[in-house]
Amino acid sequence: MDVPNLAALQERARQQAAARAGGADRLRAHIVCDGLVRIFKADGVEVVALQGLDLVVDRGELLAFVGASGSGKSTLLNILAGLDVPTAGSATVAGHDLLNMSARRRLQYRRRVVGFIWQQASRNLVPYLTAAENVALPMRLAGRRRTVRCRAMDLLGMIGVEHCAGRRPDQMSGGEQQRTAVAVAVANDPEVLFADEPTGELDEATAAEVFAALHTMNAELGVTVVVVTHDQAVSGQVRRTVAIRDGRTAAEVRRTARTTADGATELVTEEYAVLDRVGRVQLPRSYVDELELRDRVKLTLEPDHVEVRPAHEVRPAHEVRPADGEAGA
Ligand SMILES: Nc1ncnc2c1ncn2[C@@H]1O[C@H](COP(=O)(O)OP(=O)(O)OP(=O)(O)O)[C@@H](O)[C@H]1O
Ligand SMILES: [Mg+2]
Repeated sequence: MDVPNLAALQERARQQAAARAGGADRLRAHIVCDGLVRIFKADGVEVVALQGLDLVVDRGELLAFVGASGSGKSTLLNILAGLDVPTAGSATVAGHDLLNMSARRRLQYRRRVVGFIWQQASRNLVPYLTAAENVALPMRLAGRRRTVRCRAMDLLGMIGVEHCAGRRPDQMSGGEQQRTAVAVAVANDPEVLFADEPTGELDEATAAEVFAALHTMNAELGVTVVVVTHDQAVSGQVRRTVAIRDGRTAAEVRRTARTTADGATELVTEEYAVLDRVGRVQLPRSYVDELELRDRVKLTLEPDHVEVRPAHEVRPAHEVRPADGEAGA
């Protein structure tokens, strides 16, 4: 996907999201997590999968999560999709408080407010229904009677799999199945679409098609999209990539479209470490290893930045004044 195309898609997604929300000033904070904690207990052992995770996603964003295996990506997505409940902290999606929700409201939330795509294509589609019937199913479950088939065909057409409308999943390729799964997930026009490694079982070219389907839904429906991925190519196609490490958001990469002097659009990539509410920052593992940082570091406030130095660094003798004893260092 070329650069101007991505910028145009982002702009369209913003416009559609603003139209949905009733104004551009309502685009802020569609998803808000504050100090989110999830502790699993298995055989008497506790696993802290999320350790006070903070996150804000704006309406109409297309955001990618990356992170090592076991860092908590799926745990977070399952909570946001209403499939799991956090142990502590707060999480709000499209105004719905995920910690205080009755079972009935949770079911409504899962059916109408969010859509979900799993990595395994077989989990997304009912095997004995055709693609069109699969897309129609969530609409019928939500009580919709009219225009169901028409909308199903429209959605399949939007992502280029209308030729699969009459086929069952076993008559489609893996990529066609996952693209159909995207159509199923947006059938009830959700506020947010979650996808947990939707391209994990696909080759590069097919993965790009599935990702393009997510981009299309983001741009055409203004739906907020949050996707977990290991695919480096994917993280190059989104405005914001958030890295999760040990159950916290650790770093993010932002790409912003800028217009150059000669009128062309270019994407500028900037990397940031995430600073949480109480001032915590995770240093990149490579920096920690390179300088052998351990246990404690020295921070120095400079006029426009903060320096981080190994604590074992010995200061030159002329800098050590008598009053500066070891205890004060
Ligand atoms: N139901 C569960 N019971 C016990 N521990 C769990 C459960 N689900 C997840 N965990 C643990 O929580 C941690 C985070 O798991 P999670 O599945 O969120 O990771 P992930 O980032 O999605 O990894 P991957 O990239 O492999 O999918 C892991 O240590 C995992 O073993
Ligand atoms: Mg996972």
